[in-house]
This record gives sequence, structure tokens and C-alpha cells, in this order.
Amino acid sequence: MPIPESGAFSEPSQGPLVEARGLSHERDGRRVMHIGDWHLAAGAHALLLGPSGSGKTTFINIVTGLLTPSHGSIRIAGQEMSALPPAGRDALRRQTIGLVFQTLRLIPALSVTANLALAQKLALGRVDTAEIERLIGRVGLAHRAQARPRQLSQGEGQRAAIARALVTRPRLVVADEPTSALDDRNAAAMIDLMFEAADTTGATLLVATHDGRIAPRFANRLDLVAPAAGVAS
Ligand SMILES: Nc1ncnc2c1ncn2[C@@H]1O[C@H](COP(=O)(O)OP(=O)(O)OP(=O)(O)O)[C@@H](O)[C@H]1O
Ligand SMILES: [Mg+2]
Repeated sequence: MPIPESGAFSEPSQGPLVEARGLSHERDGRRVMHIGDWHLAAGAHALLLGPSGSGKTTFINIVTGLLTPSHGSIRIAGQEMSALPPAGRDALRRQTIGLVFQTLRLIPALSVTANLALAQKLALGRVDTAEIERLIGRVGLAHRAQARPRQLSQGEGQRAAIARALVTRPRLVVADEPTSALDDRNAAAMIDLMFEAADTTGATLLVATHDGRIAPRFANRLDLVAPAAGVAS
């Protein structure tokens, strides 16, 4: 049983870490994502699968409070994300979730090191330089620590974004296609790192992917169906 390090995240709440009820989303009158009822227990690392356009990123945006679902609700660590005001959603996301965006969204004006430091400052109110250096080394970017995001290759950027998501020691790590630009060796290493972080800090992983290389590592799956395949209400 891994022992969480102190001060890294708030007290675990009772019940599932993520709980969707009757969840679906429409855009322009068209259903683009349907989950219904689903939950993710703490420690039950899950893979989010589905073809392009099936709503993986839409679901991740709802889980992380960046998008309000058109139907149903989502609870994160017992708090109803979509019922919170914007500032409350930001706080819940920062304190509870480490997010790897499909489009990375590293801050262009900041170095890799400074991107990680800002994430820590916003989530924890302090900067842990040793932890930043450790993680940057762990993703193989020690030699690129002072580089700006636009100076990185796509795969280096993906590794930096994974390090940024883990540096706050979040309870929930949500990653959208985190290995799509990585070669086999780096893809395996990044999944190893996410599982290592989960073991060390007690984090739970929710990873959207098309990447068949990483799928066997996860016991739980949530399969989304493309709307064209006809999802019943
Ligand atoms: N801003 C938007 N306005 C209208 N439709 C959108 C918007 N963003 C996404 N969609 C549509 O919503 C559906 C789900 O998109 P989403 O990005 O969630 O899919 P995805 O499963 O993440 O796909 P991919 O594997 O290609 O990343 C798609 O049909 C997409 O065209
Ligand atoms: Mg997507």
C-alpha cells in the first residue's frame, strides 16, 4: 500500500473520485458525447477509448471543469464540478487534477522549469525546486530545462506537459493522448512514469488514447462510441 507524501493533496473524500450521472453533451443540437452513469474509484486507473470524434476530449473538458455538460452532472472528489462558479472550478482543478492537454498548452513565454514552477505555485502555493528538477530529469529533459515550449520537439513538449501534470502531486491525473507523439521507448517510459507517480502519491489515472501500445497497462476501460455509430438515449 503506497503511503502518500504529506501536504501533496487534500484529504481523500468518501466515494468515487470521479462520478458521472446521466452525462452527455450536445453541440449545435448534435450529441457529441454520451457517458451516462459512470464512476472512477480512487486507484482504479482507467483508459478512455474511442475513435476520433467520439467525445474523449469533450469528456475530459467536462471532468476538468473547462466545459459545462448539456445533460447530467459530474462530481470530482465529492464536489459537483459543474455547479461551482468559475473560480471554484479553477480551484478544484488546480488542487485535485493534473491535466495533460491534447494540445499541451504549455505557457510559451516560460521555460520548461518555469512552467512547472508556476503550476506548483498555483496549486500548492509554493515551489519545490528539487521536485521540479527530479521530474524534468525523469522525463529526459534535463538538457532542455531552460528551453521555451516552441523550442521543443512535439515529443519533448509532450514529456514536459506530463511532468507539469505530475509536479503538483494531484489526486487525479487526466491525460488526453499523452503518448501520441512519442516513439515506443518514450511512450513506455511516460506510462511507467505516470504509474510510478500514481504509486508514490496515490494518484488515479484517467488517460484518453488511441495508442494500442499503452492500452494493456490499464485494467479499467471506458469506451466511447462515435455518434455516427448511433448512440441510443
Ligand atoms: N468547439 C466545437 N464546436 C462544435 N463541435 C465541436 C467542437 N469541438 C469538438 N466538436 C465536435 O465534437 C465531437 C467530439 O469531439 P472531441 O474533440 O471530444 O473528440 P475526440 O474523441 O477527442 O477526438 P480525437 O480522437 O480526434 O481527439 C466531434 O464531432 C467534434 O467535431
Ligand atoms: Mg481529442
